[in-house]
Amino acid sequence: MQFSVTANRQRAFLAAVLVGLAMLSYFLHRTEIKVTFFGSHSESCIKQLAQTEEAFCHSFTGDRIGQRDQSALCTVWAQQRRKKQEMEDILTKLDQQMPSITFRDVKTTTSAKNSKATLLSHKDSYCVGDHLIVRLDLYDHLGKRKRYGGDFLRARVYSPGLKAGASGQVEDYKNGTYLVNFTLFWEGDVRVSILLIHPSEGVSAMWAARKKGYEKIAFTGKFLNGTSEVFTECGFNITTKEELCEYLDERDQEAFYCVKPKHVPCDAFIHLKSNNRPMSYLTPLEKSLFNRSNIGVEIPQTFGNIRVLSCNSTKTTPREKCAVGTSSPVPSGFVWQAQWRPAFCATSRLSTLDQINACLKGKLIYFMGDSTVRQWMEYLTRRVSTLKFFDLHGIGKLQNLLAVDMARNVQIQWKKHGHPIITAYDYTAKDHSYVARDIDKVAGDRDTAVVISLGQHFRPFPMELFLRRMLNVRAAVQRLLLRSPDTKVIIKAENIREMYIDPERFGDIHGYTQYLALRGIFQHLNVGFIDTWDMSIACAVNNVHPPEEVVGNQIDMFFAYIC
Ligand SMILES: *[C@@H]1O[C@H](CO)[C@@H](O)[C@H](O)[C@H]1NC(C)=O
Ligand SMILES: *[C@@H]1O[C@H](CO)[C@@H](O)[C@H](O)[C@H]1NC(C)=O
Ligand SMILES: *[C@@H]1O[C@H](CO)[C@@H](O)[C@H](O)[C@H]1NC(C)=O
Ligand SMILES: *[C@@H]1O[C@H](CO)[C@@H](O)[C@H](O)[C@H]1NC(C)=O
Ligand SMILES: *[C@@H]1O[C@H](CO)[C@@H](O)[C@H](O)[C@H]1NC(C)=O
Ligand SMILES: *[C@@H]1O[C@H](CO)[C@@H](O)[C@H](O)[C@H]1NC(C)=O
Repeated sequence: MQFSVTANRQRAFLAAVLVGLAMLSYFLHRTEIKVTFFGSHSESCIKQLAQTEEAFCHSFTGDRIGQRDQSALCTVWAQQRRKKQEMEDILTKLDQQMPSITFRDVKTTTSAKNSKATLLSHKDSYCVGDHLIVRLDLYDHLGKRKRYGGDFLRARVYSPGLKAGASGQVEDYKNGTYLVNFTLFWEGDVRVSILLIHPSEGVSAMWAARKKGYEKIAFTGKFLNGTSEVFTECGFNITTKEELCEYLDERDQEAFYCVKPKHVPCDAFIHLKSNNRPMSYLTPLEKSLFNRSNIGVEIPQTFGNIRVLSCNSTKTTPREKCAVGTSSPVPSGFVWQAQWRPAFCATSRLSTLDQINACLKGKLIYFMGDSTVRQWMEYLTRRVSTLKFFDLHGIGKLQNLLAVDMARNVQIQWKKHGHPIITAYDYTAKDHSYVARDIDKVAGDRDTAVVISLGQHFRPFPMELFLRRMLNVRAAVQRLLLRSPDTKVIIKAENIREMYIDPERFGDIHGYTQYLALRGIFQHLNVGFIDTWDMSIACAVNNVHPPEEVVGNQIDMFFAYIC
């Protein structure tokens, strides 16, 4: 009698737990994922629940199996809450940094030609290690002083004869005045270049337009239907009444969709490609700011060459060896005789093949991300002829790559990051995975290095997509460093790219906001940061795939961290 009551109670309890789990997972699946993507009336409900989140999770700490499951689920849910909050915080911060301006007439927008650059505290000569401060006063096309900031500027000092260059740090006083702070890293005659990439009105329009949706890129998915192939529309936010295939990563709240082809299972999704949809979220007036003639215009200056003497200065020679966990300042270094010299740590350049081989010996290296880190793999296999590609049966430029040196036990691999990859050429979606999941599969040790580089393919989409992805990557990196603290994790920033590339989809203004977010997201982690944004400004290569020389410099930084 007693027993049967208990059994019934247990059964009832189990049933309750199962229903609870089902409801909770349904809730996570339906609301949390959809809400973070597309907003919904359930949002306020989630917010209310969040306030009692901790107490809620702790109420499941009994030792019954079902309760432990619920507790685990609850923890996942709490992590998702925190991630959502952090995303909102980053977006709020960016909103504060980015201008918000309405304008009616192009003539009232910033004109580079009417603006002035003046040298503060001019001297006949400077010493290496000194700072050169340039003041910018910006004017509009009518010759009126600008009264607010937010212009997208690019500042550089350089010496063509020395193949030398460095970026400058721009401070925005938000009143039309800017100060550019250059470090004079080398001896010689130095020139200053300050470009107005976009006027603040253009930056404001772009930042607002970026939030408007996922429509700029159209994805086409290919499904296998027996022996024939069918094509359907895919994307992050498809508006259709037709049935959809949902490709969800529930833990990380990543979602991708395709219109379901009739009588074809969602699992038969094999390939993907994309094209630029002929549309814009900008008004014609806003668009006129992005005329070629209005992009990257030099701000005139009256001072000529700056004379820099050595003065026996050792101020710009760092002593600490480069190591993961050191924070990377801006400017992060300079290029001299075409070679990169970091400003914050000492490198020992690996100039001979023997030195490179000694560094690589026994290493297991994962390149995860886009083609800018695939370039590293291409560079290394060209430079080190004993590294041989192993055929992994892929097609096209986006196939997985593996190179090995059997004698030295070196293994290097590259895998593209998860959706979105933007290309007009078919690529496989069969082994699709997100970088966070790939990191989760790395065992790691002191001879393992993971290089992560994402960004270029995220530029056409709302910022949330990039932020969610990078926060998921960071969580995976933290897990990796818990189980294998000796693993070297390297975050590679984006390269600046072609100045006149379709700015609304791929322009550097979008890369810049991502770069700012990226620096913040990884700042307190024990990772190496390779500031290729800064490096590519120093080298002034406006090329998403920079020339070999520049890639070589990026890889030298990588070697500095791992060897
Ligand atoms: C803007 O503010 C800075 C710092 O307060 C000041 O030096 C500068 O003169 C101001 N510019 C204008 C145009 O008022
Ligand atoms: C320029 O930058 C250096 C190093 O970051 C700093 O010490 C110096 O105070 C800055 N100068 C000005 C005028 O902001
Ligand atoms: C998704 O599409 C719907 C319908 O067009 C739209 O209302 C919603 O704002 C879109 N969401 C995003 C984030 O673009
Ligand atoms: C898939 O193949 C089946 C059988 O051959 C056919 O009936 C169906 O229409 C095909 N689906 C599509 C979307 O082409
Ligand atoms: C941009 O170019 C178009 C046509 O090439 C021209 O009509 C327009 O005036 C230009 N706008 C600006 C701001 O230069
Ligand atoms: C710089 O240092 C060298 C050797 O250390 C010395 O011979 C030279 O006089 C110094 N020059 C100056 C300008 O101090």
